[in-house]
Amino acid sequence: MDNTVKVTINGREYQLPKGMILVDAAKLVGIDIPVFCYHPKMKPVGACRMCLVEIEKAPKLQTACTTPVADGMVVRTNSPRAIAGQNATIEFLLLNHPLDCPVCDKGGECPLQDNTFGYGRGTSRFAEMKRHFVKPIPLSDKILLDRERCIMCYRCVRFTREIAGDETLTVLERGSWSQIGVMEGRTFDSPFSGNTIEICPVGALTSSLYRFRARPWDIDVKTVGTVCSLCPVGCNVNLTVRNNEIKRILSRENTPVDDGWLCDRGRFTYQFVASPDRLTQPLIRRNGELQPATWDEAIVEVRDRIQEMLVKRGPGAIAAVASPKGTNEEGYLLQKLMRTAIGTNNVDYTLAAHPPSTPLRFDAASGSIVGLERANVIILADVNPIVEQPVLDLRLKKAADRGAKIVVIGPEKIDLVRYAALWLKTEREAVVDVAHALLGAVVQGDLVRGDFVQNRVRDAEAVLSWAAKLDLDALASKAEVPREQIDAVAQLYAGAANASILFRRRSSPSGLADALVNLALLCGQIGRTGAGVYPLVAETNEQGMIDVGAVPDRLPGQRSISDVEARQALADLWGRPVPSEPGLTGSEMLARARDGGLSVLYLIGHDPLGSADAAAVRAALERVDVLIVQDIFLTETAKQATIVLPGCAFGEKDGTYTNLERRIQRLQVGVKPRGEARPDWRIIRDVGIALGGDFDYQTSADVLAEIALAAPIYHGITLGRLGLHGLQWPRWAADGSGSESLYGNEEESFTCAPVAAGETSVRG
Ligand code: SF4
Ligand code: FES
Repeated sequence: MDNTVKVTINGREYQLPKGMILVDAAKLVGIDIPVFCYHPKMKPVGACRMCLVEIEKAPKLQTACTTPVADGMVVRTNSPRAIAGQNATIEFLLLNHPLDCPVCDKGGECPLQDNTFGYGRGTSRFAEMKRHFVKPIPLSDKILLDRERCIMCYRCVRFTREIAGDETLTVLERGSWSQIGVMEGRTFDSPFSGNTIEICPVGALTSSLYRFRARPWDIDVKTVGTVCSLCPVGCNVNLTVRNNEIKRILSRENTPVDDGWLCDRGRFTYQFVASPDRLTQPLIRRNGELQPATWDEAIVEVRDRIQEMLVKRGPGAIAAVASPKGTNEEGYLLQKLMRTAIGTNNVDYTLAAHPPSTPLRFDAASGSIVGLERANVIILADVNPIVEQPVLDLRLKKAADRGAKIVVIGPEKIDLVRYAALWLKTEREAVVDVAHALLGAVVQGDLVRGDFVQNRVRDAEAVLSWAAKLDLDALASKAEVPREQIDAVAQLYAGAANASILFRRRSSPSGLADALVNLALLCGQIGRTGAGVYPLVAETNEQGMIDVGAVPDRLPGQRSISDVEARQALADLWGRPVPSEPGLTGSEMLARARDGGLSVLYLIGHDPLGSADAAAVRAALERVDVLIVQDIFLTETAKQATIVLPGCAFGEKDGTYTNLERRIQRLQVGVKPRGEARPDWRIIRDVGIALGGDFDYQTSADVLAEIALAAPIYHGITLGRLGLHGLQWPRWAADGSGSESLYGNEEESFTCAPVAAGETSVRG
């Protein structure tokens, strides 16, 4: 079926997508229709009249932002009538606009200025007094409102209603006194409030952090395209830089990842980068005091102390922990340093415990962020995206608006409960009982997708017979969830064309991941767009650290340390044998230190002494002979260090991150490192070279090139291929693109997770 229509615009005929809004359709063929209130991510309202165009047979000018294209339509965007209408709109808007452009943050990058220049009369016929308000008024501690600048496009109000779903802003007063304000009894404390500054087409909404700090023409660099470092969504950002300081963070739309939005944490957290408290040179403890040192001295000290302990205690007494906020290149180099130059697998990226692995081939989300929009049912099992992966929360709300049925399981009334078809309210520990009950309901309700299980799932018999015997009433009552809800969710999930499950990769109740993976396998809800299993990582580059082998039991490419072939391949690449014994996890390192079994601990970006259980950690760290801390501040842990190495902060480093949907994205440098601080990958490289390893890399891109060789799931990844928007690993498709979904290959089979032993709710 032909889904296009013939439309004539400004005398030329075009074939355009049927039903597309005229503003967008015109843009497709390179014709700009000016807009203010129209925003491609929100429903059109036709409020500002900026987009007036002439449409043949229509008695008066039409708003192009509310008019879908139709076959045979004849449009003129530049006829005398259309131009007169656009002129008039600008003239009326400027009637009340203060024209304080010289002191307005938006001056120089303002759609009102641009449209006035492009579509205005050039002179005004009005001489009336303009409105004056006390200015600015704070809508929150982050956002200021200059009411007289507002052109009443309602973009901000619509954002809070349609995108964030918190309805915090509204229109107060009436007529010419209408103004934007916070809903009565509310505060503008939305975690997404900063987006309104960016979509406001005038300078009515400004950032309290940026106001009067820079002008577009005196900014050094306005578009340093990099990736936010505060959570694993990996939203794309542009840094505004002046005098080697980040002055502002704006969205750099990467639709599949962030849909063009940022959370306030990502948008407003940058001042620490220019903090005067940043570490600016290496420190070495001498006579009990940390004293400034040169890089050469520091690297030699690191080398000598490690070599001394290697001789005295062997490689097993040396351990390192990479930062989960670090880049793939940093994680890769640290694990290579430990495995080749030291000879141990004692490397991790966390000091917390690891979850047991699931039976899935890869430790990663099987689907994509944008794929969730295609899910008909989404189960959220003990997750809270608005806090842990905020912009993912917006995607889930969008999915719900598009008809996905959301099911929330857990104790917390998370924001998405407002969008949920069902909330199975239960204690955190009981979420696993609900998952078991769902498995039971699927099997006992004859909802198993037999063809999928028969063709692709091995060893399903044990789970099927176990689930068939579960006492669902007992499980439901144990979880304090009505049995009908269990049955309803089982039917929804199993019956959906595409359904996805999200849960926390770490710190979910034990057994939950296995139960949910089994549920997905029995229902065939995996391997397609919208049908996926998402163990959500919590840290910025947790996924990358797992992928590049910064874990004690897995090599680059998520291959087991016991995989002889993988070890041999790496030994060939690295020119050194790879130790076969699994190393210590981060938490085991602390325990070993406490027992006096650890001589050297190299911590990058970790401050366990600044955490809640500092006393226990202090007891451990005090027994370590050499504590090397690489960080950007003199943290509580750094204060105890033997050697302190100053690294780089967000905006100062390049390299790559891998987000929660396996998308490898490129970071770019916006500001120079403080003082003598160095990029972290370079510090690790220098330590590697000092210890006699093969660490001959000139740039972080050289490291990425080696990762692409060392980790099969990163094969073919280059900076050039990542481009502006990244690639989801693995890049195995014939066309060289990334993989939106894992496990799509019909030939690939799955193994079920073993059933929970000793389940008390199994009927006798
Ligand atoms: Fe539009 Fe800005 Fe006014 Fe909101 S404050 S209605 S975004 S002009
Ligand atoms: Fe069309 Fe505002 S952009 S009415």
